Amino acid sequence: GRGRTEVTVLVLGLDNSGKSTLLDALRPPEQRARHLAPTVALQQDHFQSGGVSFSAWDVSGAPRHRALWERHYRRAHALVFVVDSSDRLRLGNAAVLVPPPGGLVRYIMCGVRCAVVAREELELLLCHPDVCGRRVPLLVFANKCDAPHALAPAQVAAGLGLERIADKPWHICASNALSGAGLTDGISWLARQIR
Ligand code: GTP
Repeated sequence: GRGRTEVTVLVLGLDNSGKSTLLDALRPPEQRARHLAPTVALQQDHFQSGGVSFSAWDVSGAPRHRALWERHYRRAHALVFVVDSSDRLRLGNAAVLVPPPGGLVRYIMCGVRCAVVAREELELLLCHPDVCGRRVPLLVFANKCDAPHALAPAQVAAGLGLERIADKPWHICASNALSGAGLTDGISWLARQIR
């Protein structure tokens, strides 16, 4: 490889998507937090996977912190985007707003936009001048795959419009940050892209 010992991974996603839980699950058991509070701004985390040492920033999902996290785009070697695959309303593509079996999708029309959707957030990231055109690998976790009526990774990929990404390698995998399922697969892919 390139002999790089530490890489900086930015972990982004809407609030409540599972970023803190996911990073916690990647830590050795004795270092795990018992209770996770909503992220206030930025949290730094170190972990090893596939022979690569990761230094990860858990970037708060709260839009008011945007200026804070955009400063870290330039030094990111890899991007992790976490999506709550059961949050159909905030995924962002009307085409995948499929009601859960026996359920309804309720559209609430408001005069103002009250929630940012994941697709929009990802687009903002990918067209940022410090990210666009750089060949940084993008790993998408379709998290909360255990939740009732969670969308399959292919549906999440379609909802996010991942197939349009041409300037960087990307990969999507289903994950359950509570049990740890799927995390190793995703991080191993990332490690292979970086080395
Ligand atoms: P912010 O700090 O607000 O940006 O949120 P976050 O993205 O860090 O989410 P967090 O890790 O705090 O998780 C939000 C909630 O989702 C918590 O109640 C978690 O226990 C739960 N959660 C996280 N991952 C999973 C998962 O894979 N499955 C299920 N069922 N719940 C999850």
